[in-house]
This record gives sequence, C-alpha cells and structure tokens, in this order.
Amino acid sequence: MNLVKEKRLKNYIDGGWIAPKDVRYVDVVNPATGESVAEVPMSTKVEVDAAVEFAKQAQRGWAIVPAPQRAEVLYRVGSLMKERKENLSQLLTTENGKVIEEARGEVQEGIDMAFYMAGEGRRLFGQTTPSELKDKFAMSVRAPVGVVGIITPWNFPIAIATWKSFPAIVAGNAVIWKPASETPLMAHELAAIFAEAGLPKGVLNVVFGSGNTVGNAMVEHKDIRVISFTGSNEVGRNIASKCGQLLKKVSLEMGGKNAVIVMDDADLDLAVEGIIWSAFGTSGQRCTACSRVIVHENVKEHLQERLLKEIKRLKIGNGLDEKVRIGPIINKVSLKKINSYIKIGKEEGANLLTGGYVLDEGEHKNGFYYAPTIFTDVSPNMRIAQEEIFGPVVSLIPVKSFVEAIEVNNNVAYGLSSSIFTKDINKVFAAQRDLDTGIVYVNAGTTGAEIHLPFGGTKGTGNGHRDSGVAALDVFTEWKSIYIDY
Ligand code: NAD
Ligand code: ALA
Repeated sequence: MNLVKEKRLKNYIDGGWIAPKDVRYVDVVNPATGESVAEVPMSTKVEVDAAVEFAKQAQRGWAIVPAPQRAEVLYRVGSLMKERKENLSQLLTTENGKVIEEARGEVQEGIDMAFYMAGEGRRLFGQTTPSELKDKFAMSVRAPVGVVGIITPWNFPIAIATWKSFPAIVAGNAVIWKPASETPLMAHELAAIFAEAGLPKGVLNVVFGSGNTVGNAMVEHKDIRVISFTGSNEVGRNIASKCGQLLKKVSLEMGGKNAVIVMDDADLDLAVEGIIWSAFGTSGQRCTACSRVIVHENVKEHLQERLLKEIKRLKIGNGLDEKVRIGPIINKVSLKKINSYIKIGKEEGANLLTGGYVLDEGEHKNGFYYAPTIFTDVSPNMRIAQEEIFGPVVSLIPVKSFVEAIEVNNNVAYGLSSSIFTKDINKVFAAQRDLDTGIVYVNAGTTGAEIHLPFGGTKGTGNGHRDSGVAALDVFTEWKSIYIDY
C-alpha cells in the first residue's frame, strides 16, 4: 500500500516543508511486512536551532491571540482528523503495526483530545484571592511558558502527540516536536492538518531525527523552557538529569509493569476478556499493558485453562486485516529483547505455559511476529515479574489473599496502571485506595484510559506530572501572580 505521497519526509519548520541538507535517511519499515514505506531524515542541531528561532518569534504573537481563538484552531484540527479518521488509522497501522481497530481507537483519542482541549481554551481558569491590604486586587493567571519541546515514542504515535501538543498550543506556547523515528508518518500528517486548520506558521515545528542528536539538542537548548517526554525509563532518567542541571521543567511518562488482580470471587469471563485484551492488545507494547496477573490460588488452574483456550482463537498477522487480533512487534531489536526474557524466565524457574517463540513462517515470514506467551508459577521477585518486557508476555503470580495481592502489585519499580476483578465492594474500595498506581481499574483490564482524566504514574513511571485531562495544562503553563493597587 502506498499511502505516503513523498517517500522522503521533510521537516515542518516555520510553516514550510524543509529537507535538511547533507543528512542521512533511515527507512520507515512496516513491521507487518518488513517493507520500507518511507524514509525519515536524521536532522541535526542546525535544524533544531532554526526551528527554535522561528518558534520564539511565532510564540510572541500566538500568546496574545485570545485563548478561545487559539482553541478555534483545535476545533478545526479535530474536525479534519475526524474526516480523515480511516486514512489516518490505515497509515498508523502501516507504520506501527497495531491492528486497525486499535489504530481507529488511537486516532479517536486524538480527536477527543482536540475537542476537549479546545474547550479548555474557553476556561483556562485563574484565581482571584482577597488581598490582606486595602485597595489592592490580587489574582493569579496561567501564563504560557514559551517554546516547549515534545519528545514522543513509537507505540502511540498520534495519541501521545495530541496529549502534549494540544494543551501546549491552546495555552499559548510554540512547540518543537521530535517524534520517534520508527513512526514519523503520523507526525507528518498531524503537522499537515495543523497547517490546513490555520495554525500560524512557527507555532508547531516538527524536526525528525535521532534521540541522541535531535532529542538531545532540544533538551540542551537554552530557549526550550519545558521538555515533555514519553518513552523508556532509561532515556527519561538521562533527560531528567540533564534538565536538572539546566533547571529546566521536565515532564516524564515512562514504563509500566502493570498487573491485573483476579480474586476468587471474580467474574472469570470478565477477567479473561480483560487480561487477553490488556496483555496481548498492541502485542503487549503499551505502557499500560498487563504483564502480570496476580491470581488467587483458588481460581488459578481454572483461569489458566480459560486463558489458554482464548489464546488459541487469536489470529496473528497483518493488522490491516480486520480479522487479525494481534499484530506484529515494532522491529527485530524488540523481538530479540522479548525472546531474551523467555530464557531469563526459564532460568529463574517459571513454567512456560504457552508461546515463547518468534513466528517467522508462512504469512509471518517477512514481518516481526511473536507468539502470545504465558509464564505460570512466577514468584514476585523474578526479573520477568519486575522488568518491563514490552511484548506479549504475561506472568501469572499465585497469591493466598487480598492483602498479599495488593502487596505484590505494589512491589515493583513502576506505578502506571492496575486492575482488580472482584465482586466484593469492600475490596473494591480498599483496592482503589491501596494500589500504588496513577490509574486503577475495577472489573476491567489495565488499558483503555481516556483523555478526560489525568494520565501518568507513580514511582519509576514518572516524575509526578500528567498528560491528558486538565492536569496537562500544569506542564505547559506557569502561574503568574498579579497585584493591582487602586
Ligand atoms: P525510547 O525511550 O527509546 O524513545 C522515546 C523517544 O525519546 C523517541 O522519540 C526517541 O528518539 C527519544 N530519545 C531517545 N534517546 C534520547 C535522548 N538521549 N535524548 C532525547 N530523546 C531521546 O522509548 P520507545 O521505545 O520509543 O517507547 C517505548 C517506551 O515508552 C516504553 O518504556 C513504554 O512503557 C513507554 N511509554 C510510556 C507511556 C506513558 O505514558 N507512561 C506511554 C507510551 C509509552
Ligand atoms: N489510552 C491508552 C491506554 O490506556 C494509552 O492503554
């Protein structure tokens, strides 16, 4: 399928499509087929510096446009995304591999975010506070920070970009965005939509390139006042330490080791559905993916049988085929990493119940496919139960009680999403209080957060900031206090 008009992508800087000079290009590979669908430039610091200069100029004008008018651009962006939803979804599946139904869901998240954040343009509430003194008026307002840097991963190439760029833009900032090199097509399309929606030039700039060069140049640039990053823990920590030295505000959304808890009074039909979807949807490549099932020992055998039966029904293949339930893994490097954890799990003494191998024959020959995998009799401290694998691998951990289940859930370095299946209302309330994660689900899997609530996690998942919901505005605004004597 040839969905991209020009194979060689260009940066979008100051409202124009510009090819960087003398740089190398890297193939954008469809993980379902192994075919190159585009080429992305590896830009340099030169392009980042140029983009920041244009962004600085543009931001001054954009900040004084009334916020409801800034919001009008987002309404138009949302409408254009809605019109093009099917095209965008197909392109997303082509570059990322996720099955088409999930791609549609992701594009819909972006559409929802556009209308949601456009609404915020009519609110952007500040506060008035009574002064201690006579004839003095005191208020605080949300002021834009200036030029902000957005660095995004490949697993949600359009949704995450909208969680960050829409609040940044409605609040009056200019944006430099570096998308992941594996999935630049969504960035290309979103920039084109912004241009069509009438965003003034320079307010959004997309610079393609590697993390080490373009990402790093953004992190170190003195005029980029905020970095909003989503990606791996290792890269996030590195960015955080540089931003710390520069006293630069940084928002980090990183990995997860999310668990579904199944109590012995759970509705097992619901639990199986929730586990299958959140462990194997997007081939387990979601920050919110379920990679641990903490199961009460009384229902462990039964749950295992049910999961095995369901796995057999999952069609694995090219996500553009509507019948396919599990698409490919993003690339060969990831396949290798996932496979290495199978060896680790076996050496640690876990029992491999199903899967644990690469699929590379017949229709799977040219793509990067991995069999849905379940380890059972896993101990909470094994590496497979502690480290983010980022693939379709789930560990079943038996427990004897509710209290133990909560303890096991919390005893990991991450804290993004968690879920509990139970019919006991007392356990539901205790769990929502005691689960140490940014998101808690009751009688649903660990994935599927919408855009109207804050999104993010505790501990190694992040540094306290949130994407989505009104909380996203905190990242891209500064409180300014104003006193007027009269
Ligand atoms: P990654 O950390 O490898 O890359 C993320 C982005 O950072 C990419 O654009 C990359 O080019 C850039 N980057 C890499 N090195 C950099 C550097 N030194 N300086 C600046 N930028 C740099 O992550 P990935 O493999 O693209 O994505 C998968 C990871 O993202 C997983 O760990 C997943 O859990 C996490 N994730 C988290 C959330 C969340 O909201 N918590 C959501 C989605 C994905
Ligand atoms: N909304 C996506 C999920 O919760 C990120 O999995």
